[in-house]
Amino acid sequence: MSTRLEAEHLYKVFGRRPGQAVERLRQNEADREELRAQGTTAAVIDASFTVEPGEIFVVMGLSGSGKSTLLRMLNGLSEPTAGQVRFDGQDLTALSDRELREVRSRKISMVFQHFALFPHRSVRENAAYGLEVQGVPRAERERRADEALALCGLAGWERSWPDELSGGMQQRVGLARALATDADLLLMDESFSALDPLIRRDMQDQLVELQKKLKKTIVFITHDLNEAMRLGDRIAVMRDGRIVQIGTAQDILIRPANDYVASFTQDVDRSRVLTAGAVMEQEVRGDEADCACETATAQTPFTDLCAMSARAAHPVAVLDGEGAVIGVVPRQRLVGFIGDEERAPGTCDSPRGEGEKVLARA
Ligand SMILES: Nc1ncnc2c1ncn2[C@@H]1O[C@H](COP(=O)(O)OP(=O)(O)OP(=O)(O)O)[C@@H](O)[C@H]1O
Ligand SMILES: [Mg+2]
Repeated sequence: MSTRLEAEHLYKVFGRRPGQAVERLRQNEADREELRAQGTTAAVIDASFTVEPGEIFVVMGLSGSGKSTLLRMLNGLSEPTAGQVRFDGQDLTALSDRELREVRSRKISMVFQHFALFPHRSVRENAAYGLEVQGVPRAERERRADEALALCGLAGWERSWPDELSGGMQQRVGLARALATDADLLLMDESFSALDPLIRRDMQDQLVELQKKLKKTIVFITHDLNEAMRLGDRIAVMRDGRIVQIGTAQDILIRPANDYVASFTQDVDRSRVLTAGAVMEQEVRGDEADCACETATAQTPFTDLCAMSARAAHPVAVLDGEGAVIGVVPRQRLVGFIGDEERAPGTCDSPRGEGEKVLARA
């Protein structure tokens, strides 16, 4: 499987002498604050990551941390001050303007926070807009727009006007427009942030469901770690222009790279994120393996594990595909992962000790 999108030591500096600012950052001669005092903004500093085909890669960070600037470099809307972006192995920075427009119109789709629909066009015409730009004939673009609308739960609304739709439905038209073009790479910037919490949750679920069918490659930006964890196969956490950690939701929850990341994880509902594979003890004593009567797999959700643990006197055994015991989960260990108070007994020497200390502090 080849990498779809690759960012390599990306920098974006706004203001005077950006190249010089990059050099000073590289040499550790100046930090972001010093540059800012001189009127130069280092919006993205040394960002490197890869996004694989079919992956949802979430970039999470507070306002001003550089997320949108990063995203704009990924589709070539903004030229990096330094570094490279490769899309399917092709260096975007080396393309001519015409080639870049071609890539943007056919291969990459953007969905923004406030998706601007055309008020005097029907829902169908709005969804077909990207195809119209590509010069696709009317009949075909309407067919593809209708398909995309159906995927987004909007069948029957094709002839309606945008102002007849709720905010959530309008946002889904935006998503349908992005899907209709067949672009493989979707760049979504705070796409759900303007929605009510319930609708937002619903859209997150729908995106995850759609993704199972469509297997697009998605870069999704959010300032909400719960949203990041619900959507992301992997999450990059940004702070002040830098990526401070890249990992799965469980990595970030159990092994936050620093106190800054850990402080975000305090508000996360751990029971929704953690699975048996993440919380199990890997050292299995012979007697535990024999007597465990409830069994789980590494993917068993935390809440199911709690239910099993409540039924069983013995630790829950975690099995691999062949039925071999790969770990055990004693009840007190579960408590340790949700508990705010004390660290679970018997976990001091586990490889996850560091994460648990953080959890215990939370
Ligand atoms: N065109 C520009 N000119 C000058 N500074 C800019 C420009 N675009 C962004 N910045 C600055 O770069 C920094 C990062 O901005 P960016 O919009 O990428 O943040 P963000 O993480 O997307 O924030 P938000 O969550 O509020 O959308 C900010 O300090 C911003 O002021
Ligand atoms: Mg932004």
